[in-house]
Amino acid sequence: ADPLNIALAGLGTVGAGVVRLLADNGDLIARRAGRAIRVVAVSARDRTRDRGIDLSGIDWVDDTAALAEHSGVDAVVEVVGGSDGPALALARRTIAAGRSLVTANKAMIAHHGMDLAAAAEAGGVALKYEAAVAGGIPVIKGLREGAAANRFAHVYGILNGTCNHILSVMEKEGRSFADVLAEAQALGYAEADPAFDIDGVDAAHKLAILASLAFGTAIDFDAIETVGVRHVVEADIAEAAALGFRIRLVGVAGMDAGGLFQRVHPHLVPHDHPLAHVSGSLNAVVAQGDAVGRLFFEGRGAGAGPTASAVVADLIDLARGASGPVLSMPAETLERAAVADAGAR
Ligand code: HSE
Repeated sequence: ADPLNIALAGLGTVGAGVVRLLADNGDLIARRAGRAIRVVAVSARDRTRDRGIDLSGIDWVDDTAALAEHSGVDAVVEVVGGSDGPALALARRTIAAGRSLVTANKAMIAHHGMDLAAAAEAGGVALKYEAAVAGGIPVIKGLREGAAANRFAHVYGILNGTCNHILSVMEKEGRSFADVLAEAQALGYAEADPAFDIDGVDAAHKLAILASLAFGTAIDFDAIETVGVRHVVEADIAEAAALGFRIRLVGVAGMDAGGLFQRVHPHLVPHDHPLAHVSGSLNAVVAQGDAVGRLFFEGRGAGAGPTASAVVADLIDLARGASGPVLSMPAETLERAAVADAGAR
């Protein structure tokens, strides 16, 4: 079979991780996907940096958005980041060019996911974003495929590795917030602007996407009440520990009489709850389904390997010819549901 030819925008931690994973596990990936997956074009700010990956034979493109129309490309992978700017321009052009898009960009999906999904549906192409939520944990596929038959009561979890690393190291080693944040940045977990991590915005981006999947609602990032961990001090952690709790930044979404509620804030988690044992940069997602019961997903939510694992899983879906609805429900269905809801009120 012909290979799936991809264009890759961004060669930072995640982009280089994708190239490395496709090289290291290429044979296995080709067997599982039914054909090879090949990077044919890339764009990145710095051409000269040694990333320890083999880029020979790959076209370099200066204008990131032009990757959308690069000749011979079947799908575009966007790992540039940022909710707008070059990432969004590339996403729109890719879909307009009739090509599928794989993205790790939670901020872009949280803000523009509905529009992009509608455009992808209209164009008959796929929009895939497994890597956007909880890095390597296959939680999008888990909820949308593995547990697709369930009604969910709630979904919640630890969705930011930087904050979880900070909170767990502060507790274990009694170190200060600023000191541990610097370490998370050095480890490559933190966002380019770490305020997104410590003010809870990154977790809220991911929660908005999860809620849409679990409840079949439109993504509504602006409705999320968000409080981050910026003001947590060592004494808070020590006091919580004395009372039998750990502090974790938790995002929670559920349905109640008022409709969908979504919140991100530091929680006191009792020691006997599984979230209390999610340490370091790990992420975890808990979903309560009516048929399956409680699901608990745990794994690495950031970093090159875990994020590349999720990006390449989406590419394998595309190579197999599987796309599925672009969001939890096709945008058209969501529109009809919104009209029906308004009528009922
Ligand atoms: N800054 C994010 C985190 C990266 O710390 O979880 C993964 O989205």
